[in-house]
Amino acid sequence: MTQADPRAAESLLAFWAEAGVDAMLLDEAVDRIEAGRIVPPRPPERKAVVPAPTAKAQTPDVQGAVAEARRLAGEAQDLDALKAAIAGFDGCPLKFEGARQAVFSRGRVDAPLMIVGEGPGAEEDARGEPFVGKAGQLLDRMLAAAGLTDRVFITNTVFWRPPGNRTPTPQEQAVCQPFVERAIALVAPKMLLLVGAPAAKSMLKRDEGILSLRGRWFEWRSESGDLELPAMPTLHPAFLLRQPAAKKKAWSDLLTLTERLDRPERGG
Ligand code: URA
Repeated sequence: MTQADPRAAESLLAFWAEAGVDAMLLDEAVDRIEAGRIVPPRPPERKAVVPAPTAKAQTPDVQGAVAEARRLAGEAQDLDALKAAIAGFDGCPLKFEGARQAVFSRGRVDAPLMIVGEGPGAEEDARGEPFVGKAGQLLDRMLAAAGLTDRVFITNTVFWRPPGNRTPTPQEQAVCQPFVERAIALVAPKMLLLVGAPAAKSMLKRDEGILSLRGRWFEWRSESGDLELPAMPTLHPAFLLRQPAAKKKAWSDLLTLTERLDRPERGG
């Protein structure tokens, strides 16, 4: 028997492969599993079953959480204290669903315009500031074009990133609302810009779609009724990134809003 020459074997295999032979079979099938010579692949491990949220987790004590949020928010005498209160608040389930940190606000603390968005996304969750991802960059460009840079305070209806960027639930928005209201009271803006349907619906307690709400003036009222401000819903910049043709509408909303913001106050 001649000694195997690896180079000859290689060249022979290359020849067979070229000819389309890519498997070698014996005349008789060999049950290698039976023979124990190869280990059968293990069946895929079943994923750990994530226990369904308990009834308690699914229906958290929203009223209790709102009351606690209201108490904490009321105690906050400035925006730094409010930020700390939000970070320490455990009543919003989103805090425990994978968010890295609480995302409160950015912008001027005495801004005449407050922008309220839906909730933090991945970039915001990583950086701890609202509207700093792609949608936020578009928002910033639009604000700059309207001359509103440095005249805004930006926050969201919820302060923790919803998992998978899903829309926050009305309950999650409800427990964060006292903090949003306190931010409005502390910043004391002249008006609100509500960005996207979830923000508009939650802040204005209305059910219409954003295409019907956008560009119109509404009166926002705090839960207690002691704060009132003009508020305009507009399209979300994330929507504009997907539907650039809609930018015209958002731009027109921004111009309408800026015109009112710059209008001299009567009797002033
Ligand atoms: N979308 C929002 O509504 N808010 C953010 O902060 C970022 C994206």
